[in-house]
Amino acid sequence: MLNSIDIKNIFQNINLGEKVSINGWVRTFRSNRFINLNDGSCMEDLQCVIDFEKFDKKILSEINTGSSLNIIGEVVESQGRGQSVEIVVNEIRVLGLSNPDQYPIQPKKHSFEFLRENAHLRIRTKTISSVMRIRSELSYAIHKFFNENNFYYVHTPIITGSDAEGAGEMFKVSTLDLNNVPKNENEEIDFSKDFFGKETNLTVSGQLEAESYALGLGKVYTFGPTFRAENSNTSRHLAEFWMIEPEMAFYELEDNINLAEKFIKSIIQNIYKKCKKEIMFLSERLFKEEQNLPKNERNEMSLDKRINFVINNDFIRITYNEAFEILKNSTPNKKNKFKYPISEWGIDFQSEHERFLVEKHFKSPVVVYNYPSKIKAFYMRLNDDNKTVRAMDILFPGIGEIVGGSQREERLDVLKKRIAHLNIDEKELWWYLDLRKYGSVKHSGFGLGLERLILFITGMGNIRDVIPFPRTPKNAEF
Ligand code: 4AD
Ligand code: MG
Repeated sequence: MLNSIDIKNIFQNINLGEKVSINGWVRTFRSNRFINLNDGSCMEDLQCVIDFEKFDKKILSEINTGSSLNIIGEVVESQGRGQSVEIVVNEIRVLGLSNPDQYPIQPKKHSFEFLRENAHLRIRTKTISSVMRIRSELSYAIHKFFNENNFYYVHTPIITGSDAEGAGEMFKVSTLDLNNVPKNENEEIDFSKDFFGKETNLTVSGQLEAESYALGLGKVYTFGPTFRAENSNTSRHLAEFWMIEPEMAFYELEDNINLAEKFIKSIIQNIYKKCKKEIMFLSERLFKEEQNLPKNERNEMSLDKRINFVINNDFIRITYNEAFEILKNSTPNKKNKFKYPISEWGIDFQSEHERFLVEKHFKSPVVVYNYPSKIKAFYMRLNDDNKTVRAMDILFPGIGEIVGGSQREERLDVLKKRIAHLNIDEKELWWYLDLRKYGSVKHSGFGLGLERLILFITGMGNIRDVIPFPRTPKNAEF
C-alpha cells in the first residue's frame, strides 16, 4: 500500500508524474469533477480532478463538503490558475460521510459569532486554520528565541498558594463540597480541610516563581496558561490566556525594554517569513472587511505593511509623565472625547488613551515607563523620586497593552515597606522575601500576552478567535 503524504509536501517537493496517496476533508466539489481537498498541513487546498464516468454514482454522491477522503492519484501540472500542481484521481475511498445539508461549515462566508458557536468545527475554515497555524509557529518561534539567547524554560505551577500577586481576580481551586462547606468557629471557610490544607487558586502569573528561578539559573522564561476572573467582556480579554514571562537576573529596566523589543521584532519577523501565505491571506481578508467601514475607521496601513513597520522601526519610548502631558493636552481630552478624562497625575491609562498614543499621536508601538507607584504592583522597583516605579508597558496599534513588565524591587527593606503599605501579609510572601535576603541582585522581567500578539499579527478583531476554545464570562462550552 502507498503511504499517505501531507498536501504541504506535494506542493513543496513532489515530482510530476509521481503516484501519491492523500487524506483530507472536502472543501468543495464542483461539476462532479473538481474536489478541493484540505488536510490542514498548509493553507492551500489540493485540487483533485476526477473523470466521473470512471466512478460509480454512489461514491460521487458521498463526496460532499465536510466529508473525509483518501485519494490515490498522479501529480500533474495544474491546468487551472493559482496552483502549481493538481492530482488526477485513480482511486477514491470515502473515510467519513458528512451530511451536506447539516454540516455547519458551508463553503461561504460565515460570521465569527456563528463560528464561535461551532468552535469544534471552525478549524476547517481557511481563516481560523490560518490563525491557528500562525499560533503554533509563533509558539515555536518563542521557544527558539529564548533557547538561542541562553534562557531556560521553567514550568511554574498552575495551582498557586499565594494570592498576593495582585495581577487580577483569581479562580478558586478546591475539592470542598460546595453544598456542605466546613466552617471554623468564626464561621469562615475552613480551608485546612481542603485538598491542599490551605486556600489555593489558579495562577494569574508565573512571575514570582520565575523570579526565584532567575536568581539561580540567570535567565529563565515561563510560557503557560494564566487565569483571570475579572468580568471584562471585551475583545481583548480572556479568562484563560497564555502568557510568556521572561525573568532576567542582573537586568535593569532599560535592559528589560531592550530585550522585549528585540524579542517581539525577532518572533514577528520569523513568523512573517514562515507564514507569509497565511499573513497575505489574512491581510486581504481584513482589507475586504474594512471596505464596509467608514473611511476614517479603516486602517491607514494594510496588515502586511503594519507588520513590516513594527519589524523595521524603533519603538517610541516615553515616561509616564511625558505620556500624561501628551494626553492631557490632546484634542480629544480638550474636547471631552475621552470616556475617562485625563486630569490628575497618577491616574491609570485606559485603553482609549493607550490607543490614542499609539494610533493617533505616534503611529508606532510605544513603550511607556516609570509609572506612578500607586497604580502598579508591590514588587516593582521604586525610583529615587519615591513616586514612580520602574514599570514598563508596551502598547501596540489596534491592541493597546501587549506587554507589562518591570524591574523588581531587590532591596529587602524597601520591599517590606511597600508590602506593609499595601496591607499585604508579609507571611504570605516569606519565600519571596527570602530571595532578597540571600544574594539579592537587580533583576527584571515582563509578560507578553500570546493572544494579544496573535491579534496583531493576524489582524483579527476579537481575542476569542485566536485561541482554540475561548474562556470568557458565561462561556465555557466545549
Ligand atoms: O500586565 P500583566 O498583568 O503583567 C503580569 O502579569 C506580570 N506578572 C508580567 C511580568 O512582569 N512577568 O499581564 C501581562 C500581559 C498584558 O500586557 C497582556 O498582553 C496580557 O498579559 N493579558 C491578557 N491577555 C488576555 N486576556 C487577559 N485577561 C489579559 N490580562 C493580561
Ligand atoms: Mg498590565
